[in-house]
Parts: sequence; structure tokens; C-alpha cells
Amino acid sequence: MSANQAKFAPAWLVEPKDVNHIDSKIWPAGLTRSAAGDISLAGVPVGQLAAQYGTPLMLIDQDDFFARGEKVKSAFEKAAATIGSSAKIYFAGKSLLTTEIVKWIDQLGLNLDVSTGGELALALSGGISPDRIGLHGNNKSLYEIGRAVTANVGAIVIDSEIEIERIASVAGAQDKIQPVRIRVNSGVHAYTHEYLATAREDQKFGIAISDVPALVAKIRSHSHLKFLGLHSHIGSQIFAIEGFVESVRRLIPLHKQLLEGGEAPELNIGGGFGINYTSADQAPAIEVFADQISNEVAKLCGEAGIAVPVLCFEPGRVISGPAGITVYNVGTIKDVQLSEDGVTGIRKYISIDGGMSDNARPSLYSADYSPILASRSSAAKPALSRVVGKHCESGDIVVRNCFLPEDVNPNDLVAVAATGAYCHSLASNYNYVTRPAIVAVKGGNAQLILRAETEADMFARDPGYSEDKTG
Ligand SMILES: Cc1ncc(COP(=O)(O)O)c(C=O)c1O
Repeated sequence: MSANQAKFAPAWLVEPKDVNHIDSKIWPAGLTRSAAGDISLAGVPVGQLAAQYGTPLMLIDQDDFFARGEKVKSAFEKAAATIGSSAKIYFAGKSLLTTEIVKWIDQLGLNLDVSTGGELALALSGGISPDRIGLHGNNKSLYEIGRAVTANVGAIVIDSEIEIERIASVAGAQDKIQPVRIRVNSGVHAYTHEYLATAREDQKFGIAISDVPALVAKIRSHSHLKFLGLHSHIGSQIFAIEGFVESVRRLIPLHKQLLEGGEAPELNIGGGFGINYTSADQAPAIEVFADQISNEVAKLCGEAGIAVPVLCFEPGRVISGPAGITVYNVGTIKDVQLSEDGVTGIRKYISIDGGMSDNARPSLYSADYSPILASRSSAAKPALSRVVGKHCESGDIVVRNCFLPEDVNPNDLVAVAATGAYCHSLASNYNYVTRPAIVAVKGGNAQLILRAETEADMFARDPGYSEDKTG
């Protein structure tokens, strides 16, 4: 990178030797570039999928999703078995959920974590057994609690004192015993973006450690509630294993204290395992998380003289994130002259046909992503670029810092890596832009698992809307 370009790029961004290179660290395993230069996913040309389903388009490499799901499951199960226990894995549905994905989770033998009545409805409709569903949420409505108890979900995570009575009374009215966990605000800083760190003291989730024993006693006093154990989720996109280790150090003494008053068979340590979004990221392998967390639990339980509980985890992004890519069509392109401290440079602004409505993470969390030119290869030099959306916000950025070939043209396709998690699930209709289709690709075949939203879908709630026939 020239000194001028370096002035306008973050230190981690390295100019690629080959702009056509596909870094296996960030792209799904099934992504390949043909000799002709275009890219395919699981044997299907991405250009063909874009023509068939339109852009923006979210593609999921189904084998890659399954491979990640199996890897996560086996890593945690093996680590737990090594310390004489077992593990239960809940896929965090908030990262990406459709009925087809519920079926995949079922086939993978994973459990499913949902956080609203809507996610619960989709999970049930996808056919997973309700006892494998866990319901979260800091403000579950009575309706959501009722729905969960009626459906016989396997666990409800209590997030505040008021929920104890609410869940107990619904379960009592149905003469059921509802298994519950209690979410602890352990005060651990998860070394991640502030908005993603959910176990610090000054935030809305969970119950302070000091308040937990009294609330667990209250739970245990209800014959229609069964206490499963503690729950903690310290944040998302975490690379530092120390955050989990510290969380466990705070949870085990509390867990031991609770054992004095009754059973607490499980300990839920949450999700948040980070993934690579750029070539500069160095996410630890999931086995490293699994081993170090389990070993710490075993050590602390040994010291405390208690049995190791069943360990529960709630990974989302690490399964769904890297399996997904988003394909966009390039529209306008501008070379913007930059000048700072007497240094000048150019940043290429490449506008694509989506943006913060299909990927809010860069604007919400300053998240980084990586793009490639998908419709062809290029012999042009790498140009310092920014991939931006079509929304009326200057913060509508999909990839803030990247290199794309200097000759990117309107109508080229650009693909963005690792968009499987928290992109579609956070999608909006901002500026009345419709949300993309999701297509699963496997062994040369494509399956539409969520069709693209139409204007008719989008405006269906507006009683005065009539279709514009001029377009
Ligand atoms: C309670 C809870 N569990 C699990 C997750 C999944 O996190 P991730 O997708 O980063 O693994 C989240 C995400 O926010 C969460 O809030």
C-alpha cells in the first residue's frame, strides 16, 4: 500500500497481492473461483443465483453450516466428556432463523435458543421438539410466557424477579412444572464492542450475583418451577477466552452456594464465540474455547468439592456467520479525493443495491467485513475502497475498509463474507427497501429458504397502499 493510501486505511488492512484471492479463513468452504474468474458456491455460479433470485441475495453454504454446527457440538461435547460431564448446545436463533434452519438445527442434534414469541413461533413451526427449545428475553410478555409454557419448552431463562411469579402462575394454571434458569449479570467485561458486552453491571440483562440466592430460593419455593441452574452470557464476537474464564470463576462459587439449597444440574455459559470477518482477525478455534472453559469449570468444581454440572452453551454466529455471504449488484462508483495533514489520496466509493437494511452491523457496531469481486476476476490493481449502501445515511456502509480491483464497474457483482449471522435477522425496511431472499446451496443445487420480500409484502399493513402499475 502506498504511504498515501496507508494514511486513509486502518493499520490492520493489508493490500492484497492478488485481488482475486479467496481467503479460506473468512469465506465458506464451498466458495471457489472458476478458471473463467467468476465465483461459485457449492458448485453453483453465484451469477446464476443472482440472476434467478435477484440481488441483494443472501447465500448459505449448507455443508459449511453443517460442518460448523458439527464441529461446535463435538468440541463442547468432547471437552465436557473429558471432565466427566456432558454438554448441551443451543443454537442462538437470533443469529439467523427460518423454518429450514430450524430443521437443520434439529438434524444436527442441537437445541435452539429463542428470545421472543416470534422466534418461538418459527421454531415450533420448523418442527423441533419443544423440550429442545430455550426461551430468553429481558421483557417477556405474559403472552410469550404463556405460549412457551403451553408449548412445553425445555427451559425459560428468568431475567428479572417479576418473571418468577409470572412463570409460576402460568405453569400452575396449566398444572405443569416448568424448568427455568436464572440469568446472572456477572459483571464480566467481555473485551468487545460496548454494545455487545452484556454482562457488565450497568446494563439491562440478568440479575446481580448478590441477589441470585434469594431469587433461587423463591424459584424453589414454587412447586410449578424446576430450577435448572445459572445462566450467563457475557457478550458477542469475543476473541478473549479470559472473559469466559473470568465468568466461570464468578459463577462456580455461586453455583456451589445454590447447591446447598437444592439441585442445580446445569450451568449455562452462553454464546459469543468470535469469528473472522477480515483476514486480519484471529478468532480462536472453537476447540480452544471449549477446552479452556471446561478445564476451568473442572478445576473450580474440584477445588470446591462439587460435581461438574452439565455445561450448556448458546453459540450463534460461530455456526451461522461464516456459512453466509451476501451478493450485491454494483451501481454507482465514485473516486472520492481525500486530503488530511497535507496528504492526499483516493477512496473508491462503490454503491451496491442494499446496505444497512440488509446488514446493519457496520452502522450499529462499526463491524468490519470483507468483499470480493464475484462476477469475474480482474487484472487491475487493488484500489482502496468502501462498499456503501443505497440508504439516505452517510453511515450506510457495508464494508468500511477494503481493497477491490480498480476496474470495478456498474453491474459487477460484489460478494461480502461472513454475513450469515445478525444480518438477515437484523434486517429492516429502512427507506422502504425490501429484504433479500435467502438461498441455501448444497452439492450443485440451490434451495430458496426465504423468498425475497416484495413491495406488496412490505406495504401490506398500509390500508391506503395500491400497487404502482407504472414501473
Ligand atoms: C443470551 C444470548 N445467548 C447467545 C447469544 C449468541 O451469541 P453469538 O451469536 O455471538 O454466539 C446471544 C447473542 O446476543 C445472547 O444474547
